[in-house]
Amino acid sequence: MNTRIKVIRSPRAMQDACLKLRARGKTIGFVPTMGALHDGHLSLIARARRENDAVVVSIFVNPTQFGPSEDYLKYPRPFSHDKDLCRAAGVDILFAPGVAAMYTQDHKTFVNVAKMSDVLCGAARPGHFRGVATVVNKLFNIVAPSSAYFGKKDFQQLAIIKNMVRDLNIPVKIVSCPIIREPSGLARSSRNRYLSDIERDHAQKLSRSLSLARRLITRDGISNPARITAEMASIIKTIPGARIDYIKICNPETLEELKTIETRALIALAIFIGKTRLIDNCIAIRDVVN
Ligand code: PAF
Repeated sequence: MNTRIKVIRSPRAMQDACLKLRARGKTIGFVPTMGALHDGHLSLIARARRENDAVVVSIFVNPTQFGPSEDYLKYPRPFSHDKDLCRAAGVDILFAPGVAAMYTQDHKTFVNVAKMSDVLCGAARPGHFRGVATVVNKLFNIVAPSSAYFGKKDFQQLAIIKNMVRDLNIPVKIVSCPIIREPSGLARSSRNRYLSDIERDHAQKLSRSLSLARRLITRDGISNPARITAEMASIIKTIPGARIDYIKICNPETLEELKTIETRALIALAIFIGKTRLIDNCIAIRDVVN
């Protein structure tokens, strides 16, 4: 166990620490998070640990990515447990700034990755990805990582960050990591802790509907997105109290909806189970001989 984890609260002190590491030729692997760490985050940290000299994790519940009626205030903040997990995972520096340190009262500058931010989750959460792109950009400027690790569960976030880094020439390698699932198939998420036992049980149907869609595309060669999303919806509708925000089949690079599935397709969904909004996705590759 790494007993020497350092907690830094000030962006300036964090920047100094990271610039010193980079000046000594050290690589920095960075895992940005909002805390409430679970196995998904721990898999990102483990990979960053394997691939870098130093590992930095940030915990910052970023207000600019929450809408006015969203769960910013009640978002879980188990800081001391998160710190223990980071220490056990071999994290060198935990960056945990307060809101006032990250955003001055007259903060005016935002980063918006056009088009991709307005579809899928962006349609129901206006401004969400502007908040994500802005804070990730700030964190990259503070931490100056060599590589940053993101999970594919937030596929849209990952695609937007990859575009931002390319468009703004940010010298950070973005590493995409697989979705970590519970044995039932439910994708690990900090918001799973909002689910009651019965809701958690029902939530397995999200990944089941994705597996069905993947089979329809890869095994049966079905190319009509509407047919596939209808089959998925019929599974989701068996969950009492579930509400479909979206089920969509898109181009994995541009996130544009597909009219026909030619080869690679992103199958993505957002479903409310009770009051909890869950997202999940998978990639399916249609064999061109079908
Ligand atoms: O995925 C998250 O936890 C957040 O959106 C991120 C990338 C840490 C930005 O606040």
